[in-house]
This record gives sequence, C-alpha cells and structure tokens, in this order.
Amino acid sequence: MPIDFTHTPVLLAPMAGITDLPFRNIVLKFGAALVVSEMIASQELVQATKTRQSRAELGLKVEHTAVQIAGRDAYWMSEGAKMVAGQGARIVDFNMGCPAKKVTNGLSGSALMRQPDHALELVKAVVDAVDVPVTLKMRLGWDDETLNAAEIAKRAEDAGVKMITVHGRTRCQFYKGRADWQAIQSVKDAVSIPVIANGDIIDESTARVALAQSHADGVMVGRGAQGMPWRLAQISDVLRGKPPQKALSGTALADLVIEHFEAMVAFYGVEQGVRCARKHLSWYMEPLDNGAYLRALVIREPNPAKVISELRAGLSDSKRLAA
Ligand SMILES: Cc1cc2nc3c(=O)[nH]c(=O)nc-3n(C[C@H](O)[C@H](O)[C@H](O)COP(=O)(O)O)c2cc1C
Repeated sequence: MPIDFTHTPVLLAPMAGITDLPFRNIVLKFGAALVVSEMIASQELVQATKTRQSRAELGLKVEHTAVQIAGRDAYWMSEGAKMVAGQGARIVDFNMGCPAKKVTNGLSGSALMRQPDHALELVKAVVDAVDVPVTLKMRLGWDDETLNAAEIAKRAEDAGVKMITVHGRTRCQFYKGRADWQAIQSVKDAVSIPVIANGDIIDESTARVALAQSHADGVMVGRGAQGMPWRLAQISDVLRGKPPQKALSGTALADLVIEHFEAMVAFYGVEQGVRCARKHLSWYMEPLDNGAYLRALVIREPNPAKVISELRAGLSDSKRLAA
C-alpha cells in the first residue's frame, strides 16, 4: 500500500466537482498522505470523451493519488480500473458510498450496499483486473436497519481489498445529522487491513475524537479542506505532536489563491475554468474580514486578468476572522 502508516495518515476525500487535479495539487503542496480523484463512472470513462477522461488526470504527484471509479457492471468496472492503472494510478478506489440519486438509481455507489453479493462480485472483478492496490470507500449501510459495513468490509478484505474508508453515515442520511465515528469501529474490528474514518472531521480536535472513537488507522477530510487546503497538513502536524503550520493570510494567501485560480484556467480553459473556480474563491474568502466585499467584486467577473488583480489587492489586505 503506497500510504505511509508510520504516522496516522490524513487523506483528502474524493469530492465530485471539487477534488480535480488543480485542487489536489494545491492540497499536496501542503502535504497529504493521499488524495483521491473525483468519482469517475467506469463505463463513461472507458467509452468516453476526453473531458471525462481528464477527470482521471493524475498529475505529477501520482504516487500520492488514488483514482476512484464507480459503476455496477463487472466488465466496465474492471476495464475502467485497468485504464486508470494503465495511466499510472497507484491505487484504484472503489466507490460504494455515493448517495446521489443519479448514482444510486443506476444501482452504483452506496446502492451496492443493498446488494452485497453483487457488490462483492464487482469488487473481485476490479481486484483481479489490476496489479495496483484496490481500496474501498463505503458508508455504514443503506439505512439504520441495514448497517452492513462490517460484513461487506470483511468480504472485501477476503477479495483482496487493501484499505477501507468508512463515512460514518448511512446512505439515507445523505449528509444530514452527524457522522457516527463510534460505529466505524465495527468495521475496524472486522478486518485486519487499514480502516480510515471519514465524515465531519474538520480540524485537529475532531480528528482526535474520530480516531479515539473509531480506533481507525487514519482520517479522511473532505469539506473541511474547502478554502483551506492546508487543513490536512495542520491535522497531520498535530497528530505527530508538532505545532500546526499556520493558516495562510495576506500576500501568502493571495499568492496561493491566484496559483489555484490560474491552474484551473489552464486545466479547464478560460470560460469553464473561471466558472468552476468561483466556488473555491468563495470558500477562500468566507473567513476574511473583507470576504463579502471581495466576493462581490470577483464572483461574476469573466475576465481572468481582472479576477487576478482584484484577488491580489483584496486578499493581500485581508485579515482572517477565524483560524
Ligand atoms: C460535493 C461533494 C462531492 C462528493 N463526491 C464524492 C465522490 O465523488 N466519491 C465519494 O466516494 N464520495 C464523495 N463525496 C463524499 C466525501 O468523499 C465524504 O465522504 C463526505 O463529504 C464526508 O466527509 P467530510 O465530512 O469530511 O466532507 C462527496 C461529498 C461532497 C460534499
């Protein structure tokens, strides 16, 4: 497994529309044990257009990147896995956690947890298709009546899966309520491969509590890294007993945000890049004293040069209201 477990690893969660190559690169600049690509539907990946395939773009820090595939058909899942492994992915992650109706009505993502036998056939097909480690990301179960994560995890381990991440919610919870870190322990107890706890881990203290309650081997952070790509490194520092690196502000923040913005424009092209960058810009600006003012200046601006000059001036002058 290409993840270092000497220290408790902190991983970046896959988030569709967010953890694209530019964002993963920014997170890796600060440090992360692993970053996971956005979910890619395996059939579309194999059959598809370059745009879809670019979601599997690995970038330079390929050794720290897992590519996540989703699907419900053994043939397409294994072909998709072969394709991303052939492109250099060091880990293929299997999506059994996505709650979106568009995905579950296609009977993939977390819907597979309702059909453990079929799910395990797919897992086995993917494991057999590639030489790189296959990992699995799942929820606690479909709903409170079917908390079968531990059973599926054990069977996945037997099928050759090398690590399991559990988002401590059921599918029917979507993102509501709070993640149940304690419930993740049932998965940890069922397998001997590493288990990663996920859900509502946003800083050092939530990471510590999640680890204590789940007994997991590492943590995965998603939304907590939005607008704070240094968050994983901060958590990792504290778990290693070091003082956490500081949140960026002033000119250092301006440099970083502009670097991220320029990378998105280069990756997607001007129009799409500027549009997709807006959510990231909003997240960066949210905790700043002049955030609302600056946001109003840039959020509808189509010209990248103007966005950059407003960001340079506004962010360099800003103060962070929250840590
Ligand atoms: C916008 C968004 C997109 C997501 N996309 C994916 C995905 O593609 N694959 C996946 O396994 N999970 C996906 N997730 C779930 C996250 O990986 C993670 O399990 C969840 O957000 C809980 O962790 P957090 O509280 O740290 O954000 C997504 C979550 C969000 C908010």
